[in-house]
Amino acid sequence: MGFAALALLVAAVLQVTWAEPVCPAPRPTGTTVWTAAHSSAAAAVARMSQQDKITIVTGTGWERGPCVGNTAPISSINYPELCLHDGPLGIRFGTGSTAFTPAIQAGSTWDVELIRQRGEYLGAEARGCGIHVLLGPVAGALGKIPHGGRNWEGFAADPYLSGIAMSETIDGIQSVGVQACAKHYIVNEQELNRETMSSNVDDRTMHELYLWPFADAVHANVASVMCSYNKINGSWACENDMAQNGLLKKELGFQGFIVSDWNAQHTTTGSANYGMDMTMPGTDFSGGNVLWGPQLNAAINNNQVSRARLDDMAKRILASWYLLGQDAPGYPPINIRANVQGNHKENVRAVARDGTVLLKNDGILPLSRPAKLALVGSAAVVDPQGMNSCVDKGCNRGALGMGWGSGSVNYPYFVAPYDALRARAQADGTTLSLHSSDSTGGVANAVSGADAAIVVITADSGEGYITVEGHPGDRLHLDPWHNGNQLVQAVAAANKNTIVVVHSVGPVILETILATPGVRAVVWGGLPSQENGNALVDILYGLVSPSGKLVYTIAKRPEDYGTVVVRGDDNFGEGLYIDYRHFDNAGIEPRFEFGFGLSYTNFTYSSLRTTTPSAIPSGPARGPTLPGGPSDLWDTVATVTATITNTGAVAGAEVAQLYLTLPASAPAAPPKQLRGFAKLKLEPGASGTATFKLRRRDLSYWDVGRQQWVVPAGTFGVRVGASSRDIRLTGSLQV
Ligand code: NOJ
Repeated sequence: MGFAALALLVAAVLQVTWAEPVCPAPRPTGTTVWTAAHSSAAAAVARMSQQDKITIVTGTGWERGPCVGNTAPISSINYPELCLHDGPLGIRFGTGSTAFTPAIQAGSTWDVELIRQRGEYLGAEARGCGIHVLLGPVAGALGKIPHGGRNWEGFAADPYLSGIAMSETIDGIQSVGVQACAKHYIVNEQELNRETMSSNVDDRTMHELYLWPFADAVHANVASVMCSYNKINGSWACENDMAQNGLLKKELGFQGFIVSDWNAQHTTTGSANYGMDMTMPGTDFSGGNVLWGPQLNAAINNNQVSRARLDDMAKRILASWYLLGQDAPGYPPINIRANVQGNHKENVRAVARDGTVLLKNDGILPLSRPAKLALVGSAAVVDPQGMNSCVDKGCNRGALGMGWGSGSVNYPYFVAPYDALRARAQADGTTLSLHSSDSTGGVANAVSGADAAIVVITADSGEGYITVEGHPGDRLHLDPWHNGNQLVQAVAAANKNTIVVVHSVGPVILETILATPGVRAVVWGGLPSQENGNALVDILYGLVSPSGKLVYTIAKRPEDYGTVVVRGDDNFGEGLYIDYRHFDNAGIEPRFEFGFGLSYTNFTYSSLRTTTPSAIPSGPARGPTLPGGPSDLWDTVATVTATITNTGAVAGAEVAQLYLTLPASAPAAPPKQLRGFAKLKLEPGASGTATFKLRRRDLSYWDVGRQQWVVPAGTFGVRVGASSRDIRLTGSLQV
């Protein structure tokens, strides 16, 4: 079989559609917020020499400049030395900046206001440090593999929730004039072999899962997108015509620029012709090999890359700069060590607290002025060697607040569980004892006789350039680290009022802990960053009722997820069926399902109503392409409402969730998919209305044959509930 025939066969099997080369990417029709920015960019480009253009598309080189990525200034157009800097939860290497909660914690709040505020504060700190492009937020990894090392840098193992959080975060960052960068584009789901493997994914799965949150990012007018390290269907992400020109620039109408992940570029002409617009850091990590710069110049002079393509790159980069108003005088000078924290720790505490998920509580919580408390675990105290003692958080020592890698930041301060509990105990007159190790020796003595024993356990992961305790980025297993199961067993054997607190990057198998007599509560603290202890005390003592809900499934067994870190290429054989979509489809009972979370109060659901302003036409979206895709995809076509009542004794907040089931006329699809959520804060006895606005997009599937988003005709199932499995109201929607 010839190569072409083989390629066609592979494409047919994978249902891959190969886009035509579309360089340079077309402009969208209609006027957008980008129109003026692109005119200014075109005027500036007309005044630039070829060398100037090459200068702004090529990084100055690894560790050559004040930021992790830099380009040289062009004085003729007043264009500055551009600073691109990590990352998704604050200013990497900063000394005066906030360590915001990781995105996974923000997702777990399901609170769009807190997520938006977090974005705005991230942007404000970036701006205060003179950073032009903040390298975040993250929608890839999406989290299809529970072990995936960088899942915690993203918001949820669900495209809908991830997409809303991407949009709110980008809005927040860009509202203060900082360019956001949606990364890592795309299907970069594991750390192992991330720089050599190919993610082979079918077209429908690509659209409905992985591209979905990037479409939200583009719809939010994100200024830049970072292409990832991996290959996609056999060609490098940063020179993938289908992904960059086809999906991002043509189909989604992305108007900003694509920047390479650091050293993710492989060729001079392939990357240029197939859609990448800026190379970072400009050299490889030894400061040698340069693929653009003089090489790009030569490729242009040899007609391997057109001058029009170079102009397009430069225009996109400048348009993003103009879009955010960064050409106006007064942009702060670059200083990543500036003190920019303001009052932002309030957002950290709120997100850490409201992203905490109460998994089990037989009535022991909230605590009420106990006479004697015992606290156990190495994760109860600040890292004894210092809160920032490990480069890029590449260790799991002491209390855990974030995972490791380029997406980590320094803590400006750190409140560990012990610090906050000690303060509370002093105020209450409680005697607090501490066993700050994970060794079971002596723990019985430490906890016996206390009214309750709190044991803190962890699981960590991060980026693959660092290995921590044998975990090479991705986790090797889903158990608690440091013999957490045995520690809990030892504590509970000596104290029948044991409260387990888990600080983790993602799901942990809890079967041993839940089967241990004496474990009366499990508090899923997630990744609370610098406000770790304060958030925990807020929840343990009921200052605030827990209101976080899981953004991934906690399974009974690792193999229940149906996905693993792969050694070679990943064929994404699970297709659409990741996380709860898989558990629902395969009929597997999770331990704690996606969307689950308890409260100190109770909520009832009533009065489900669905209204459609006019009949919803079935068939494809046909609107003109605006950033994010066809404009009508984003129209609200139906509104669902439900009444939520707080029937308990204390104030609380409920995350009501809406799941849709596609009609029978649609191709096989997950039994239910999240398509709306609303968080309501309610006093005891109070009721509120949860309102879910369904966009045309929310009712659509990606039709591979037509290459369009299609609303199928028939009856949609509408389910509203407290989690993906605790459905309280059911209805339908007719198309
Ligand atoms: C590689 C990481 O994948 C990316 O997220 C980060 O922004 C760059 N390094 C720069 O540090």
